Amino acid sequence: MVTGSQVTPEEDKIQFSLRPKRLDEYIGQRDLKGKLKVTLEAAQARKEPVEHMLFYGPPGLGKTTLAHIISNEMGSKIYATAGPALQRSGDLMGILTNLNEGDILFIDEIHRLSPTIEEFLYPALEDYKVDFVVDKGAFAKVINVPLKRFTLVGATTRAGSLSAPLRDRFGLYYHIDFYPPDDLAEIIIRTASLLNSYIDSESAQMVAMRSRGTPRIANRLFRRVRDYAEVKGDGRVTLELAERALDAEGIDSLGLDNLDRKLLKIVLDYYKGGPVGIEALAATLNEEADTLVDMVEPYLLKIGFVQRTRRGRMVSAEAAKHLGVALSGGSQQGLFDK
Ligand code: ADE
Repeated sequence: MVTGSQVTPEEDKIQFSLRPKRLDEYIGQRDLKGKLKVTLEAAQARKEPVEHMLFYGPPGLGKTTLAHIISNEMGSKIYATAGPALQRSGDLMGILTNLNEGDILFIDEIHRLSPTIEEFLYPALEDYKVDFVVDKGAFAKVINVPLKRFTLVGATTRAGSLSAPLRDRFGLYYHIDFYPPDDLAEIIIRTASLLNSYIDSESAQMVAMRSRGTPRIANRLFRRVRDYAEVKGDGRVTLELAERALDAEGIDSLGLDNLDRKLLKIVLDYYKGGPVGIEALAATLNEEADTLVDMVEPYLLKIGFVQRTRRGRMVSAEAAKHLGVALSGGSQQGLFDK
């Protein structure tokens, strides 16, 4: 299986073993789960493949997990790949012709498909056929290859970057939003039990509060807390040990890490609160602009610490307060009030 680029292979292996396999095991996103359940049951009753569907939302919220759940629920196979991994139409041709009726083709980061691959995909999605060109120049021939009726499950952090023709070929769209702390605490308790470990509900709630609404982060922080409890205590996670472990990891009371704080501080100190363009900010931080947009900003936007304006990013007065940055009378031009 080819996986997305946002997680390391090691991280992916651990997350994979913790992933819920069925919809009933999946915690949170109740609306989405309800709608998905109806869709799957209707398709099963009609003995038809599910319509092509798109999951969009920030990374780490369960888009890949849901694609695997759909394949388990439908009793079909899944082939998982990612937009940037599909370079030549020949690669995609091989994948498509090997799919059976009802199989799932999962494409993560689907907004990063090349235009050529996208065009190659259109007839596959609409009419279950591909036009494959063999030979070159005067000998070029188009072979029309029929495909089995499969389901494309696309995932993206940026629905707005999807081309209109591709977007229009999905029958179902599901937005995945950040999880509330109660759901994350439940996920952490489930993970602890799968890892033959234990965490009390108060500590789980505290870790959840620092997980930025994201199950992937909650599970990662839980593993750090568990390590700490095993080394510094008797292995049982207590509130005090959990707090010390997260402090040692540089995760603050709102779940912000070093990069979040560095970003906010640079906007505050260097750009007087903003506005600052994302490219300038990325260069100052020595990070890719895409990393900031996809991985760092969404939660800062969600909690109102950052605002995107036409002139660039601005940081809120509340963020300055959280960081203990003194506001020097009127000089911080960009600060906005939530
Ligand atoms: N692990 C990661 N996300 C999860 C979820 N939504 N439900 C249960 N376990 C999870």
